[in-house]
Amino acid sequence: MTSTSLPDSLIATLPGSSYTDPEIFAQEQERIFETMWFCVARASELAKPGAFRTVDVGRESILVTRARDNSVRAYFNVCRHRGAKLCTEETGEVKRAFQCPYHAWTYDLNGKLVAAPNLTKMPDVGRTEYGLVSVAVREWLGYVWVCLAENPPSFEEDVIGEVIARLGDVESIERYDIENLSVGKRIVYDVKANWKLIIENFMECYHCATIHPELTEVLPEFADGYAAQYYVGHGAEFGDDVQGFTVDGSEGLDRIPGVAEDQDRRYYAITVKPQVFINLVPDHVIFHRMYPVSVDRTVVECDWLYLPHVVESGKDVSRSVELFHRVNQQDFDACERTQPGMSSRMYAKGGVLVPSEHHIGAFHDWVNERLGTPQG
Ligand code: FES
Ligand SMILES: [Fe+2]
Repeated sequence: MTSTSLPDSLIATLPGSSYTDPEIFAQEQERIFETMWFCVARASELAKPGAFRTVDVGRESILVTRARDNSVRAYFNVCRHRGAKLCTEETGEVKRAFQCPYHAWTYDLNGKLVAAPNLTKMPDVGRTEYGLVSVAVREWLGYVWVCLAENPPSFEEDVIGEVIARLGDVESIERYDIENLSVGKRIVYDVKANWKLIIENFMECYHCATIHPELTEVLPEFADGYAAQYYVGHGAEFGDDVQGFTVDGSEGLDRIPGVAEDQDRRYYAITVKPQVFINLVPDHVIFHRMYPVSVDRTVVECDWLYLPHVVESGKDVSRSVELFHRVNQQDFDACERTQPGMSSRMYAKGGVLVPSEHHIGAFHDWVNERLGTPQG
Protein backbone atom coordinates (compact mmCIF):
# COMPACT_ATOMS: atom_id res chain seq x y z
CA MET A 1 0.00 0.00 0.00
CA THR A 2 2.70 2.45 1.04
CA SER A 3 6.34 2.05 0.26
CA THR A 4 7.60 4.28 3.06
CA SER A 5 8.54 2.11 6.03
CA LEU A 6 6.82 2.86 9.30
CA PRO A 7 8.30 2.78 12.80
CA ASP A 8 7.58 -0.53 14.56
CA SER A 9 4.94 1.12 16.76
CA LEU A 10 2.77 2.02 13.80
CA ILE A 11 0.68 0.07 11.29
CA ALA A 12 -0.82 1.67 8.18
CA THR A 13 -4.60 2.03 7.89
CA LEU A 14 -6.64 1.62 4.74
CA PRO A 15 -6.19 4.43 2.20
CA GLY A 16 -8.59 7.39 2.23
CA SER A 17 -10.39 6.19 -0.89
CA SER A 18 -11.60 3.14 0.99
CA TYR A 19 -13.94 5.49 2.86
CA THR A 20 -14.98 7.76 -0.03
CA ASP A 21 -15.00 5.81 -3.30
CA PRO A 22 -18.55 4.77 -4.31
CA GLU A 23 -17.06 1.93 -6.36
CA ILE A 24 -15.38 0.45 -3.32
CA PHE A 25 -18.66 0.81 -1.43
CA ALA A 26 -20.44 -1.05 -4.26
CA GLN A 27 -17.88 -3.86 -3.95
CA GLU A 28 -18.43 -3.99 -0.20
CA GLN A 29 -22.18 -4.24 -0.75
CA GLU A 30 -21.68 -7.13 -3.12
CA ARG A 31 -18.89 -9.01 -1.33
CA ILE A 32 -19.69 -8.23 2.28
CA PHE A 33 -23.29 -7.21 2.98
CA GLU A 34 -24.95 -9.30 0.25
CA THR A 35 -22.79 -12.33 1.00
CA MET A 36 -22.53 -12.53 4.80
CA TRP A 37 -25.10 -12.93 7.57
CA PHE A 38 -26.69 -9.51 8.14
CA CYS A 39 -28.78 -8.68 11.22
CA VAL A 40 -32.05 -7.04 10.16
CA ALA A 41 -34.54 -6.89 13.03
CA ARG A 42 -35.46 -7.80 16.60
CA ALA A 43 -37.64 -10.90 16.36
CA SER A 44 -40.20 -9.28 18.69
CA GLU A 45 -40.80 -6.60 16.04
CA LEU A 46 -42.47 -9.37 14.08
CA ALA A 47 -44.88 -9.98 16.92
CA LYS A 48 -47.39 -12.12 15.00
CA PRO A 49 -48.03 -13.64 11.57
CA GLY A 50 -48.26 -10.91 8.93
CA ALA A 51 -46.16 -8.37 10.83
CA PHE A 52 -43.37 -7.26 8.55
CA ARG A 53 -40.32 -5.08 8.21
CA THR A 54 -38.43 -4.06 5.08
CA VAL A 55 -34.69 -3.52 5.25
CA ASP A 56 -32.05 -2.67 2.68
CA VAL A 57 -29.28 -5.26 2.66
CA GLY A 58 -26.53 -4.21 0.29
CA ARG A 59 -28.29 -3.08 -2.87
CA GLU A 60 -31.40 -5.17 -2.22
CA SER A 61 -34.62 -4.46 -0.37
CA ILE A 62 -35.58 -7.43 1.81
CA LEU A 63 -39.03 -8.14 3.23
CA VAL A 64 -38.99 -9.92 6.59
CA THR A 65 -42.21 -11.34 7.98
CA ARG A 66 -43.67 -14.04 10.18
CA ALA A 67 -45.63 -16.87 8.56
CA ARG A 68 -48.74 -18.61 9.96
CA ASP A 69 -46.58 -21.32 11.53
CA ASN A 70 -44.79 -18.51 13.44
CA SER A 71 -41.51 -19.00 11.62
CA VAL A 72 -39.68 -15.92 10.35
CA ARG A 73 -39.36 -15.63 6.55
CA ALA A 74 -37.40 -13.26 4.36
CA TYR A 75 -37.91 -12.49 0.68
CA PHE A 76 -36.55 -10.19 -1.96
CA ASN A 77 -39.01 -7.28 -1.82
CA VAL A 78 -39.50 -7.43 -5.58
CA CYS A 79 -42.68 -8.42 -7.40
CA ARG A 80 -42.27 -11.44 -9.70
CA HIS A 81 -44.54 -9.83 -12.30
CA ARG A 82 -42.68 -6.77 -13.50
CA GLY A 83 -40.46 -5.96 -10.59
CA ALA A 84 -42.31 -3.31 -8.60
CA LYS A 85 -41.28 -2.87 -4.99
CA LEU A 86 -43.84 -5.06 -3.30
CA CYS A 87 -43.91 -3.55 0.16
CA THR A 88 -43.21 0.16 0.32
CA GLU A 89 -43.59 0.72 4.07
CA GLU A 90 -40.75 0.15 6.50
CA THR A 91 -42.90 -1.67 9.03
CA GLY A 92 -46.49 -2.76 9.24
CA GLU A 93 -48.81 -5.70 9.31
CA VAL A 94 -50.85 -7.50 6.68
CA LYS A 95 -53.71 -9.88 7.44
CA ARG A 96 -52.75 -12.79 5.28
CA ALA A 97 -51.02 -11.63 2.12
CA PHE A 98 -48.88 -9.00 0.42
CA GLN A 99 -50.49 -7.37 -2.58
CA CYS A 100 -48.35 -5.59 -5.14
CA PRO A 101 -49.49 -1.98 -5.54
CA TYR A 102 -48.97 -2.13 -9.35
CA HIS A 103 -51.11 -4.93 -10.90
CA ALA A 104 -52.21 -6.60 -7.68
CA TRP A 105 -50.27 -9.85 -7.80
CA THR A 106 -50.80 -11.23 -4.30
CA TYR A 107 -48.47 -13.45 -2.25
CA ASP A 108 -49.25 -15.28 0.98
CA LEU A 109 -46.93 -15.23 3.99
CA ASN A 110 -45.09 -18.29 2.64
CA GLY A 111 -44.34 -16.30 -0.50
CA LYS A 112 -46.71 -18.30 -2.71
CA LEU A 113 -48.56 -16.47 -5.47
CA VAL A 114 -52.19 -16.78 -4.39
CA ALA A 115 -54.04 -14.26 -6.52
CA ALA A 116 -53.63 -11.98 -9.51
CA PRO A 117 -56.07 -10.46 -11.98
CA ASN A 118 -57.03 -13.20 -14.49
CA LEU A 119 -54.77 -15.73 -12.78
CA THR A 120 -57.37 -18.49 -13.23
CA LYS A 121 -57.09 -17.99 -16.98
CA MET A 122 -53.36 -18.77 -16.74
CA PRO A 123 -53.42 -22.28 -15.26
CA ASP A 124 -49.89 -22.94 -16.46
CA VAL A 125 -48.40 -20.31 -14.12
CA GLY A 126 -46.89 -22.14 -11.15
CA ARG A 127 -47.94 -20.56 -7.86
CA THR A 128 -44.71 -21.47 -6.13
CA GLU A 129 -42.51 -21.00 -9.16
CA TYR A 130 -43.78 -17.43 -9.48
CA GLY A 131 -43.87 -16.88 -5.75
CA LEU A 132 -41.54 -14.53 -3.86
CA VAL A 133 -37.89 -15.49 -3.88
CA SER A 134 -36.77 -16.29 -0.36
CA VAL A 135 -33.45 -15.64 1.32
CA ALA A 136 -31.84 -17.57 4.19
CA VAL A 137 -32.98 -16.62 7.70
CA ARG A 138 -31.67 -17.41 11.18
CA GLU A 139 -32.80 -16.29 14.60
CA TRP A 140 -30.22 -15.91 17.35
CA LEU A 141 -30.18 -13.81 20.53
CA GLY A 142 -33.73 -12.75 19.68
CA TYR A 143 -32.57 -11.11 16.43
CA VAL A 144 -33.31 -12.00 12.83
CA TRP A 145 -30.31 -12.43 10.53
CA VAL A 146 -30.58 -12.93 6.78
CA CYS A 147 -28.10 -13.99 4.16
CA LEU A 148 -28.56 -13.18 0.48
CA ALA A 149 -25.90 -15.60 -0.71
CA GLU A 150 -27.13 -18.58 -2.69
CA ASN A 151 -24.95 -20.80 -0.52
CA PRO A 152 -24.82 -19.00 2.84
CA PRO A 153 -21.65 -19.34 4.89
CA SER A 154 -21.93 -21.21 8.20
CA PHE A 155 -23.83 -19.10 10.73
CA GLU A 156 -22.13 -21.09 13.49
CA GLU A 157 -18.68 -20.15 12.22
CA ASP A 158 -19.29 -16.62 11.02
CA VAL A 159 -21.63 -15.21 13.66
CA ILE A 160 -21.51 -17.45 16.72
CA GLY A 161 -17.80 -18.04 16.04
CA GLU A 162 -17.07 -14.30 16.30
CA VAL A 163 -18.70 -14.17 19.72
CA ILE A 164 -16.73 -17.23 20.85
CA ALA A 165 -13.49 -15.72 19.54
CA ARG A 166 -14.14 -12.65 21.69
CA LEU A 167 -15.55 -14.17 24.87
CA GLY A 168 -13.80 -17.54 24.81
CA ASP A 169 -17.01 -19.62 24.77
CA VAL A 170 -20.69 -19.37 23.83
CA GLU A 171 -21.99 -19.91 27.39
CA SER A 172 -20.64 -16.49 28.36
CA ILE A 173 -23.21 -14.78 26.14
CA GLU A 174 -25.99 -17.31 26.73
CA ARG A 175 -25.97 -16.36 30.43
CA TYR A 176 -27.42 -12.94 29.50
CA ASP A 177 -30.47 -14.68 27.97
CA ILE A 178 -30.61 -11.94 25.31
CA GLU A 179 -33.35 -13.74 23.42
CA ASN A 180 -35.80 -13.23 26.27
CA LEU A 181 -34.94 -9.65 27.21
CA SER A 182 -37.28 -6.81 26.24
CA VAL A 183 -36.48 -3.67 24.32
CA GLY A 184 -36.58 -0.84 26.89
CA LYS A 185 -35.38 1.78 24.45
CA ARG A 186 -34.42 2.03 20.79
CA ILE A 187 -32.57 4.99 19.31
CA VAL A 188 -31.77 5.32 15.60
CA TYR A 189 -28.74 7.42 14.62
CA ASP A 190 -28.16 8.74 11.14
CA VAL A 191 -24.38 8.99 10.93
CA LYS A 192 -22.64 10.83 8.12
CA ALA A 193 -19.66 8.52 8.02
CA ASN A 194 -18.48 5.37 6.29
CA TRP A 195 -19.46 2.17 8.11
CA LYS A 196 -15.81 1.15 8.58
CA LEU A 197 -15.05 4.30 10.58
CA ILE A 198 -17.82 3.26 12.97
CA ILE A 199 -16.44 -0.28 13.31
CA GLU A 200 -12.87 0.96 13.83
CA ASN A 201 -14.07 3.40 16.44
CA PHE A 202 -15.95 0.67 18.28
CA MET A 203 -12.91 -1.61 18.27
CA GLU A 204 -10.53 0.76 20.03
CA CYS A 205 -10.49 2.74 23.23
CA TYR A 206 -7.54 5.00 22.50
CA HIS A 207 -10.16 7.76 22.21
CA CYS A 208 -12.00 6.92 25.43
CA ALA A 209 -10.16 9.29 27.74
CA THR A 210 -10.59 12.14 25.25
CA ILE A 211 -14.24 11.88 24.30
CA HIS A 212 -16.00 9.61 26.83
CA PRO A 213 -15.80 11.30 30.27
CA GLU A 214 -18.89 9.50 31.62
CA LEU A 215 -17.79 6.07 30.36
CA THR A 216 -14.26 6.33 31.76
CA GLU A 217 -15.77 7.39 35.09
CA VAL A 218 -17.66 4.08 35.20
CA LEU A 219 -14.87 1.98 33.63
CA PRO A 220 -11.62 3.57 34.90
CA GLU A 221 -9.39 1.14 32.98
CA PHE A 222 -10.69 2.67 29.74
CA ALA A 223 -8.69 5.78 30.54
CA ASP A 224 -5.56 3.76 29.67
CA GLY A 225 -6.80 3.33 26.13
CA TYR A 226 -6.95 -0.46 26.03
CA ALA A 227 -10.36 -1.54 24.76
CA ALA A 228 -12.27 -4.44 26.23
CA GLN A 229 -11.88 -5.99 22.77
CA TYR A 230 -8.10 -6.04 23.03
CA TYR A 231 -7.91 -9.22 25.10
CA VAL A 232 -9.91 -12.44 24.59
CA GLY A 233 -12.45 -12.91 27.35
CA HIS A 234 -11.67 -9.66 29.07
CA GLY A 235 -14.42 -7.49 30.51
CA ALA A 236 -13.67 -3.99 31.77
CA GLU A 237 -14.28 -3.70 35.51
CA PHE A 238 -16.58 -1.08 37.02
CA GLY A 239 -14.86 1.49 39.24
CA ASP A 240 -14.89 0.75 43.00
CA ASP A 241 -17.40 3.48 43.82
CA VAL A 242 -19.61 2.74 40.83
CA GLN A 243 -22.95 1.13 41.63
CA GLY A 244 -24.21 0.50 38.12
CA PHE A 245 -23.65 1.05 34.40
CA THR A 246 -25.46 4.39 34.36
CA VAL A 247 -24.59 7.91 33.31
CA ASP A 248 -23.71 8.96 36.86
CA GLY A 249 -22.61 5.57 38.19
CA SER A 250 -25.79 5.29 40.26
CA GLU A 251 -27.55 1.99 40.74
CA GLY A 252 -28.74 0.16 37.60
CA LEU A 253 -31.73 -2.10 37.09
CA ASP A 254 -32.31 -5.71 38.19
CA ARG A 255 -29.38 -7.92 37.34
CA ILE A 256 -29.92 -10.62 34.72
CA PRO A 257 -30.10 -13.77 36.87
CA GLY A 258 -27.84 -15.98 34.71
CA VAL A 259 -24.90 -13.57 34.75
CA ALA A 260 -21.96 -15.35 36.42
CA GLU A 261 -20.07 -13.96 39.42
CA ASP A 262 -16.98 -13.28 37.29
CA GLN A 263 -19.12 -11.36 34.77
CA ASP A 264 -20.73 -9.17 37.40
CA ARG A 265 -19.62 -5.53 37.53
CA ARG A 266 -17.96 -5.89 34.14
CA TYR A 267 -18.53 -4.59 30.63
CA TYR A 268 -17.91 -6.78 27.58
CA ALA A 269 -17.94 -5.58 23.97
CA ILE A 270 -18.15 -7.77 20.89
CA THR A 271 -17.97 -6.87 17.19
CA VAL A 272 -19.74 -9.32 14.92
CA LYS A 273 -18.61 -8.43 11.42
CA PRO A 274 -19.86 -6.86 9.32
CA GLN A 275 -22.47 -4.78 11.16
CA VAL A 276 -23.32 -5.80 14.74
CA PHE A 277 -21.92 -4.62 18.08
CA ILE A 278 -22.99 -6.28 21.31
CA ASN A 279 -22.34 -4.72 24.72
CA LEU A 280 -22.93 -6.76 27.87
CA VAL A 281 -23.34 -5.41 31.40
CA PRO A 282 -24.93 -7.22 34.35
CA ASP A 283 -28.37 -5.57 34.12
CA HIS A 284 -28.76 -4.92 30.39
CA VAL A 285 -27.50 -5.50 26.88
CA ILE A 286 -26.91 -2.81 24.26
CA PHE A 287 -27.25 -4.17 20.75
CA HIS A 288 -26.18 -2.08 17.70
CA ARG A 289 -26.91 -2.82 14.04
CA MET A 290 -25.37 -0.72 11.31
CA TYR A 291 -27.20 -0.24 8.03
CA PRO A 292 -24.71 1.17 5.51
CA VAL A 293 -26.66 3.51 3.21
CA SER A 294 -23.90 4.98 1.06
CA VAL A 295 -20.14 5.39 1.14
CA ASP A 296 -20.46 8.29 3.60
CA ARG A 297 -23.69 7.53 5.45
CA THR A 298 -24.66 4.78 7.89
CA VAL A 299 -27.85 4.38 9.89
CA VAL A 300 -27.23 2.80 13.30
CA GLU A 301 -30.09 1.24 15.20
CA CYS A 302 -29.39 0.68 18.87
CA ASP A 303 -31.50 -1.32 21.34
CA TRP A 304 -31.25 -1.26 25.12
CA LEU A 305 -32.51 -4.63 26.39
CA TYR A 306 -33.65 -5.32 29.97
CA LEU A 307 -35.40 -8.06 31.87
CA PRO A 308 -39.06 -8.15 30.74
CA HIS A 309 -40.44 -7.17 34.17
CA VAL A 310 -38.18 -4.10 34.25
CA VAL A 311 -39.69 -2.85 30.98
CA GLU A 312 -43.27 -3.90 31.77
CA SER A 313 -43.26 -2.23 35.18
CA GLY A 314 -42.27 1.05 33.54
CA LYS A 315 -39.16 1.41 35.73
CA ASP A 316 -37.04 4.45 34.97
CA VAL A 317 -34.26 3.26 32.67
CA SER A 318 -33.26 6.76 31.57
CA ARG A 319 -29.95 7.02 33.49
CA SER A 320 -29.04 3.61 32.21
CA VAL A 321 -29.89 4.50 28.59
CA GLU A 322 -28.25 7.90 28.86
CA LEU A 323 -24.76 6.50 29.45
CA PHE A 324 -24.44 4.65 26.17
CA HIS A 325 -26.57 7.17 24.29
CA ARG A 326 -23.91 9.73 25.16
CA VAL A 327 -21.16 7.29 24.20
CA ASN A 328 -22.92 6.76 20.86
CA GLN A 329 -23.23 10.48 20.23
CA GLN A 330 -19.61 11.09 21.20
CA ASP A 331 -18.43 8.25 18.94
CA PHE A 332 -20.59 9.18 15.97
CA ASP A 333 -19.55 12.85 16.26
CA ALA A 334 -15.93 11.68 16.09
CA CYS A 335 -16.69 9.53 13.04
CA GLU A 336 -18.46 12.45 11.34
CA ARG A 337 -15.48 14.67 12.06
CA THR A 338 -13.21 12.06 10.50
CA GLN A 339 -15.20 11.41 7.32
CA PRO A 340 -14.28 14.69 5.52
CA GLY A 341 -10.56 14.04 6.12
CA MET A 342 -10.84 10.76 4.24
CA SER A 343 -11.03 12.67 0.96
CA SER A 344 -8.15 15.00 1.79
CA ARG A 345 -5.10 14.77 -0.48
CA MET A 346 -3.08 14.52 2.69
CA TYR A 347 -4.87 11.30 3.66
CA ALA A 348 -4.72 9.57 0.25
CA LYS A 349 -2.35 6.90 1.63
CA GLY A 350 -4.24 6.65 4.90
CA GLY A 351 -3.16 7.13 8.50
CA VAL A 352 -1.57 5.00 11.20
CA LEU A 353 -2.58 2.73 14.07
CA VAL A 354 -0.81 2.94 17.43
CA PRO A 355 -0.16 -0.29 19.40
CA SER A 356 -3.45 -0.19 21.32
CA GLU A 357 -5.20 -0.03 17.92
CA HIS A 358 -3.12 -2.69 16.16
CA HIS A 359 -6.00 -5.20 16.27
CA ILE A 360 -7.84 -2.90 13.83
CA GLY A 361 -5.18 -3.97 11.31
CA ALA A 362 -6.78 -7.42 11.31
CA PHE A 363 -10.10 -5.80 10.40
CA HIS A 364 -8.41 -4.00 7.50
CA ASP A 365 -6.81 -7.24 6.32
CA TRP A 366 -10.23 -8.85 6.43
CA VAL A 367 -11.79 -6.06 4.33
CA ASN A 368 -8.97 -6.34 1.78
CA GLU A 369 -9.40 -10.09 1.66
CA ARG A 370 -13.17 -9.84 1.08
CA LEU A 371 -12.67 -7.34 -1.72
CA GLY A 372 -9.71 -9.18 -3.23
CA THR A 373 -7.50 -6.11 -2.82
CA PRO A 374 -3.84 -6.98 -3.32
CA GLN A 375 -1.85 -6.40 -0.11
CA GLY A 376 1.72 -5.70 0.72
S1 FES B 1 -45.33 -5.41 -10.91
FE1 FES B 1 -46.32 -6.32 -9.26
S2 FES B 1 -48.22 -6.88 -10.01
FE2 FES B 1 -47.24 -6.03 -11.71
FE1 LIG C 1 -16.04 5.27 21.81
